[in-house]
This record gives sequence, structure tokens and C-alpha cells, in this order.
Amino acid sequence: MKIAQASVVLTGASGGIGAATGRLLIFEGARVLLVGRSKQNLLRLAAELEARIPNRVRMDALIADVTTPAGRDAIRHAAEMRNVNVLINNAGVSSFGALGTLTDAGITASVETNLLAPMLLTSSLLPHLLKQPRALVLNVGSTLGSIGVPGFSTYGASKAGLRGFSEALRRELADTSVGVQYLAPRAVDTGFNDAQAHAFNHATGSHMDKPEYVARAILKMIESEGAEHYLGLSERIAARLNALAPRLLDGAFAKHRKALKTLPQTLHAEGEI
Ligand SMILES: NC(=O)c1ccc[n+]([C@@H]2O[C@H](COP(=O)([O-])OP(=O)(O)OC[C@H]3O[C@@H](n4cnc5c(N)ncnc54)[C@H](OP(=O)(O)O)[C@@H]3O)[C@@H](O)[C@H]2O)c1
Repeated sequence: MKIAQASVVLTGASGGIGAATGRLLIFEGARVLLVGRSKQNLLRLAAELEARIPNRVRMDALIADVTTPAGRDAIRHAAEMRNVNVLINNAGVSSFGALGTLTDAGITASVETNLLAPMLLTSSLLPHLLKQPRALVLNVGSTLGSIGVPGFSTYGASKAGLRGFSEALRRELADTSVGVQYLAPRAVDTGFNDAQAHAFNHATGSHMDKPEYVARAILKMIESEGAEHYLGLSERIAARLNALAPRLLDGAFAKHRKALKTLPQTLHAEGEI
């Protein structure tokens, strides 16, 4: 799909990857509905874009929580009004730490936001998308949805679920006008990663991409309409290897376990231990 022909709903637009993606989409000629929870961040982004693009009609902002029925209804209504043909499920929350240190609320939030909300929002928008000559649902997952890494058991589970949802729905809708895509970024330099996650990524040598790099990959996926894409050659190879022979990789995570054990407990990701 040509970017100039895309009318996009972008969730998580107030965050790092979302803001970079929203900017790029608008500058490349797409019409974008920016969706976020944080009014302050969303309004700041909308004001910045308004000042930089002359054609105001290409952008709107909506405050909505994707985990609530009211939030999803508001997004569906706005999407129908704008004749949306691309849904980008990008909103997400982190859940990092050894399982025993995570709170029930944090675990629930990661599954609700990263998995349940994209499924329910896609289901809600699907009747509208199916009426479009061509439409796309692009789900932003993670390498951690394909490779189980210590410290990311619940986050990885939510993204593995999103990957499974994307694959099955893509096959289910193969003879319709709606394409389903899955993008798996590796670590990205946004507010998503707290001090502990940064310390862990540093200790384990994880590569950190800029959000603009991920935004560019999102636009390329819309243009190519490709089914899935993993960012980073070594991550792409590791994901394939892990799918074929997961036990082969089991021995590769000693440094991750060590890093997890040596994280300063007072800086815990949930902030509640
Ligand atoms: N950063 C990474 O290392 C990384 C790596 C791989 C994949 N990803 C994935 O990339 C996506 C974007 O991450 P990011 O790095 O841009 O994170 P971020 O900067 O923390 O932004 C997250 C975005 O999601 C929104 N959001 C969270 N819960 C929401 C809810 N209930 N309803 C509506 N919006 C909600 C946030 O809105 P508020 O501002 O209102 O909270 C924010 O706009 C996520 O799906 C994440 O899992 C990130």
C-alpha cells in the first residue's frame, strides 16, 4: 500500500516508537489518527506536527485506553468516521523481572495491553476494514515473542500470543482484502525500558535501536505488505533457530540469569518490592 493512500489508526502514539511512526507517516503523506492515553504527551506531539505540516486534515488525536470497552469503542467510531484502512496495534507496556518479583497487577496489565487489547480492537474494527478495497492490521510484537529470555517470561508470553494471533488471522483472512502483519523489534531506546531493563540490556550486550529505525521499518511493511519482519540479522536467525530447535538455545542464557540476579532490587521494574 502506498503511504499516501493509508488512513491509519496508530495506538501508542504518545510513546517512543509511536511518536516516531506518527511523525514519519504524516510527513510521508498518510492520514493518521494518533491514539494514546497520556493527554499531555499526545497533545505535545499533535502541536509539534501541526506546527510542521501545513495540511491539518491529515492528523487527529484521540485519548483512549485500549484496555477498556469505552476506549476501543471510541477508536472504532473515529476509525469509521475517517475511513481508516490501516490499524497499527503498537500500544504496549513492559513487564520485566524475575517472575517472583512481578506484581499480579503488572502481569495482568501486560497481557491485557499487549495481547487482549490488540485482539479485541482488531475484532472491533474488522467489519469496517473488510469493506475497504485494501486494508492492513500491523501488530507490533517483539523478538521476545519468539525467543524466551529470562526476565521476560510474562512480557514474552504476551508477545508470543500476539505473534500467534497475527499468524492465524493472516491465514484466516488470506482471501479477503485485509492483510495481517507482525513486526518484531529488538530493544529500542524509549521510555519503555526503565533503569533496570537498561542495566540488564547493557550487561547482556543487547543491541538498542532508535525509535526512528523501527518507525521506518513500520512504513516499509505498510508499503511491502509483507507478513512479518524481525529487526536485526542475529535476532532474525536466533528466532528461526529457536523455532526449529529451542533446546539448542537453552544453554545460551547463563549471563541473562546472572544479570537478572545482580540487578539492584530497590530499582525493581514494578517499583513495589
Ligand atoms: N522499547 C522497546 O525496547 C521495545 C522492543 C520491542 C517491542 N516494543 C514494543 O513496541 C511498542 C511501543 O513501545 P515503545 O517503546 O514506544 O514504548 P513507550 O514509549 O512506553 O510507549 C508505549 C505507548 O503505549 C501506550 N499505552 C500503554 N498502555 C496503553 C493503554 N492501556 N491504552 C492506550 N495506550 C496505551 C502508551 O501511552 P501512555 O503514554 O499514555 O502510557 C504509549 O503511547 C510496544 O508494543 C512494545 O511492546 C518495544
